[in-house]
Amino acid sequence: MVDEGTPTYEDRDASIDERVTDLLERMTLAEKTGQLTGVFSSDARAEPYGSHTLKDLESLVRERGIGWVTPFATGFSTHNSPAVVPRIANRLQRIAREETRLGIPLLVPVDAVHGHANVAGATVFPHNLGLAATWSRDLVRRAARVTATEMRATGATVNYSPNADVAREPRWGRTYETYGEAASLVGELARAEVEGLQGDTDGAGLADETAVAATVKHFPAYSAPRRGEDAAPNDVSMSTLRRVFVPPFERAIDAGAAAVMPSYSSVDGEPIHGSRRFLTALLREELGFDGLTLSDWHGVAFLHSQHGTASSLRDAVDQATRAGLDVASIGGREYADLLVDSVEADAVAERRLDESVRRVLELKFRLGLFDDPYVDPSKGRAVVGRDAHRELSLTCARESIVLLQNDDGLLPLEDGIDDLLVTGPNADSLDALCGGWTVADLSTDHGTTVRGGLDTVTDAETTVAFEPGASTRSTTDLDAAAAAASAADAAVVVLGENWYVHEFGPAAVTGPTGEFPTRNRLELPPAQTRLLERVAETGTPTVLVVVGGRPVAIPDEARLADAVVLGFYPGYEGGRAIADVLVGETNPSGRLPISMPKSVGHLPTVHDHDPSPRPLGEDAHPPAYDPLFAFGHGLSYTDFEYEAISCSTERHDPADDLAVSVTVTNRGDRAGTEVVQLYLRDVVSSRVTPVRELVGFERVSLEPGDRTQATFSLNPADMSVVHPDGTTVVEPGRFEVLSGGRSAEFTVTE
Ligand code: NOJ
Repeated sequence: MVDEGTPTYEDRDASIDERVTDLLERMTLAEKTGQLTGVFSSDARAEPYGSHTLKDLESLVRERGIGWVTPFATGFSTHNSPAVVPRIANRLQRIAREETRLGIPLLVPVDAVHGHANVAGATVFPHNLGLAATWSRDLVRRAARVTATEMRATGATVNYSPNADVAREPRWGRTYETYGEAASLVGELARAEVEGLQGDTDGAGLADETAVAATVKHFPAYSAPRRGEDAAPNDVSMSTLRRVFVPPFERAIDAGAAAVMPSYSSVDGEPIHGSRRFLTALLREELGFDGLTLSDWHGVAFLHSQHGTASSLRDAVDQATRAGLDVASIGGREYADLLVDSVEADAVAERRLDESVRRVLELKFRLGLFDDPYVDPSKGRAVVGRDAHRELSLTCARESIVLLQNDDGLLPLEDGIDDLLVTGPNADSLDALCGGWTVADLSTDHGTTVRGGLDTVTDAETTVAFEPGASTRSTTDLDAAAAAASAADAAVVVLGENWYVHEFGPAAVTGPTGEFPTRNRLELPPAQTRLLERVAETGTPTVLVVVGGRPVAIPDEARLADAVVLGFYPGYEGGRAIADVLVGETNPSGRLPISMPKSVGHLPTVHDHDPSPRPLGEDAHPPAYDPLFAFGHGLSYTDFEYEAISCSTERHDPADDLAVSVTVTNRGDRAGTEVVQLYLRDVVSSRVTPVRELVGFERVSLEPGDRTQATFSLNPADMSVVHPDGTTVVEPGRFEVLSGGRSAEFTVTE
């Protein structure tokens, strides 16, 4: 029963539409603008980014009606205990509900990009590039479910994830946050992540205690910045924009993503935050997105302070609002006040603000926040880092490890190995397994390093000696490492990158500018290579394990080592997962979601490049794609044979879907999982199209001797060509499908 006099917007039985309309009608301009901006609290380390104290947040909510608060979001935050964080969220919600005129609850966004890793002891999954190496929609969906459950248990309701950026420039320090270089892999996994985060929208929907709102980012083409420098301009062509960068956003939007975050960058001279062409014409009118757009942190201010396309902050606010942006994520009081000015000066129509406020309120109602704004404070500790969640993280990590090279079958390590050496800067570091967007100052109790993993998986007769040998950038005691290698039956050398968060990397860890993550090289620092050389020179069989967040160029290192194993920031359980692969507890099934180039000079190195003419003949030109390890590569301890590929028809109607099946047999003597990859080539088209492009993938698990058929359905979008005006067309003519060295042809009819 609703009391007489209870406003419609507080009536649970009224529809969301009725509640929003009622509330909007009651709001003043100041209250509306408060809903369109947020504030963030962290600690002194983040001051340059406009952080406030928690007390500041409280007064901004109480006195200015700010609608979004980010009190524990970035991994930098000192507020990161699972016992404390829900209480902070509740305190802020209580102020919003009880101490503001209309009692509008708050949205609490976080960057839970590989688990709710802003909170100590949370479940930390492999970063996206690692999850992408599993090629598993199912694991990504389940991991996102866990993340949403842990977020919600601490009072967080909006995730700044998934990342639908397609990695085309590995010098870019944020490559690890992507699902790799192929639009279809990125799109499928971003879609799966949205499904996992947002849960079952037909049932309780976002109000469920295991669901949060997903924000797909950074729209569009953030991931190919010039020189690899974060947020740098991007001169992407229309066809690459439409073929590579936009489709993953379409899939995430199709899955119902609640929000989209624009890119900091400019594309074709237009900073996205101020671009009507991108934020309204493309995103809303063409892609049909009807959710919220949230600025990337200072994206609006950058129109004035960085891009030079706005004459003042006020001008930037006007431009962004007119372009179609809804919310300035950390605009704070200043942004809200400027928006009031804009409307009063008729620079922006209040009607335009109403559209944005409506979207914000709708999301608050969908999340159930008016009816149930608080979280049970005991839940944080009970839910965060639960055993079942961590078990899933271990499964994801195991499936994400890629076996790149295995000369003479050195791996899995034999039972007869009694003395094992583990060495290298990343051998005993949890930070290095987790990468950025993880609580700073990790306690090793939270996870397992490679050294710890090897201790766990080896039997009582095996000794695991440890010598660090080198830090990320300098050698420590190479002689000790070499002596220990000489005395060992096998050596595991764990090299790679360390912890960083794009531009936020603390210099003490990431090194000065010119080092990770703003390095312009992809080779390992010389100190690390030197350590590997000294170990390999002893003649002891040597396994190189590379841990980091992007492809590194390691041709010399691969020559020195007998086997090479790769983990893209595999998370808290990554050390155990790597150890399991080394001893054969896990048969590796990870496959590269991104090409590994031989050097920076070989960039760009992407599988779906356009054909290069050969004016001097085939032999006189270097190959257009010449990676050290190709996209999709990954070895197994068993052998898979591709027996056949066939299409459902040889003459294909362009409006239909086409079925393709691929037959694979496990010819080895171990059970294993293969990732069947399907590529398409448009043999003749009116525009230049890639030599091949990933269009489908399926994981198949087979016992020894077993055979299966992976089936794929290609749709018109997979076959279409982008025309100069941005339209896409399936053109008649020959196509080729390729998988595991087999191919088949079909012809699209007129
Ligand atoms: C900047 C990053 O570009 C974006 O990915 C992130 O979600 C926001 N800041 C919030 O931390």
